[in-house]
Amino acid sequence: MRPLSFFPLLVLASTLCACSGGGDAHAPSASAPALAAAPQQAVASLPADEVGTPLSEGWRTHAGHVDIGIQVGGEELFYTPGDGALLPVVAREASVLLIGNNLKWAGTSGPDAAVLRPSRDTFDFRSADVLVDWAEHNGMKIRAHVLVWGEDVPAWLANGSFTRDELLQILHEHIATVVGRYKGRIRAWDVVNEAFDWNGEYKDTFWLRKLGPEYIEIAFRWAHEADPAALLFLNEDGTEALGAGSDRFLQQVQALLAKGTPIHGVGLETHVDLEYRTLGGNTVADPVSLAANIRRLGALGLQVSLSEVDVRIPLPATAQGLATQAAVYAALYDACASEAACTGFHLWGITDKWSWIPRTFEGLGAALPLDQAYAPKPAYSAVLQALRANTDRCLDWGARQYAGIVRPATAPSAVFDGYYYRHFTETGNYAGVRDGMLYYWDPADMAGPLAVMSLADCQQAARAVP
Ligand code: XIL
Repeated sequence: MRPLSFFPLLVLASTLCACSGGGDAHAPSASAPALAAAPQQAVASLPADEVGTPLSEGWRTHAGHVDIGIQVGGEELFYTPGDGALLPVVAREASVLLIGNNLKWAGTSGPDAAVLRPSRDTFDFRSADVLVDWAEHNGMKIRAHVLVWGEDVPAWLANGSFTRDELLQILHEHIATVVGRYKGRIRAWDVVNEAFDWNGEYKDTFWLRKLGPEYIEIAFRWAHEADPAALLFLNEDGTEALGAGSDRFLQQVQALLAKGTPIHGVGLETHVDLEYRTLGGNTVADPVSLAANIRRLGALGLQVSLSEVDVRIPLPATAQGLATQAAVYAALYDACASEAACTGFHLWGITDKWSWIPRTFEGLGAALPLDQAYAPKPAYSAVLQALRANTDRCLDWGARQYAGIVRPATAPSAVFDGYYYRHFTETGNYAGVRDGMLYYWDPADMAGPLAVMSLADCQQAARAVP
């Protein structure tokens, strides 16, 4: 780290940075939000908070055109003993909090069987409220899962004898109440989850049987009414890569769009093994095929996210397994970052301690980048390297743009005070990123640093350069 003259510039940059509000993230507020009363089960209080501007580099430093999301399932926090280590890590690494289970109608199994809607007339928002307050306080975007899914239907609904009209009413109440409660706060919703099978045909679910295929379109319309600014996603597994199933899925999405359904994005779950095999039969989300599929969904005007990434490996994990896993993680990120339409790289958790894989797939696990004790595995560093490479392309591009330089010699990128920056030795200029913005310094012009543009725009522009 050096040069001395850089220090005052960075101090100035911190000031500027606070003013700019860090791109479209919310600036952290001054005091911690009050925690809600005990949710469904005994609650451990959430860690008193911490983050604000991270002083060290986390994945989040590089969240630009691709947001970095981490799923929190709720069970880590709301059952005794709560795991106080989790949220600070999530805030350091992720620009998006994914609320994984606490807004499901009913938890599906295991220790996370929380119930959002224990009866037709009651909703229990306590745990979701805590998470939403926490994410906002930490300047994070929020994505929530899920409004309509075949697998989280509570018993009172599944076993009730409701007419079709009553069910429509119940669904409307649900979407209006849940989306409405967080209007303007939850930026993206998984509106419909796993509605298609691995051939791209309608999956036989409670909702299909009771309401017919139009439930999908209806749910999106009601969600859009409840929060017109929210980004609405159709979330799917088994259709990640090119193939007959995803061809058919693409047609289904086109048909929904042709009807004017307010779908803004598709989530590709991307739960894979070391050979990129997804949950979906024999489909393989190899990175080339995945990128091509993202591109054709993007051509429909949709955003795409890799929405539930994890990479399961046979237990006990070997060094070879962990190394291969690291390469798979990096390649998945690269496939996403290489496509303009891909706006989210979202992991289904961050630590093996809480992963759903070992309790769902016998003999498999160790699927996430931190181990059970929160120590980084090779996958953690591999993702960081891939993120840095993406930001480096932006920094090179930025230095050329703002100094009229063709390609200056550079010192390696470094981290200081939350900035990830490069020093362009030929000109003496610096370009750096922090809080989602690209900053640029020209030591000859002491009015700098300048907040030049969002990191998202910079990464997109750099990505387009051959
Ligand atoms: C899983 C959760 O991770 C578990 O904690 C829960 O017990 C069952 O559901 N695809 C999805 C998610 O869309 O909702 C699932 O989440 C994982 C597969």
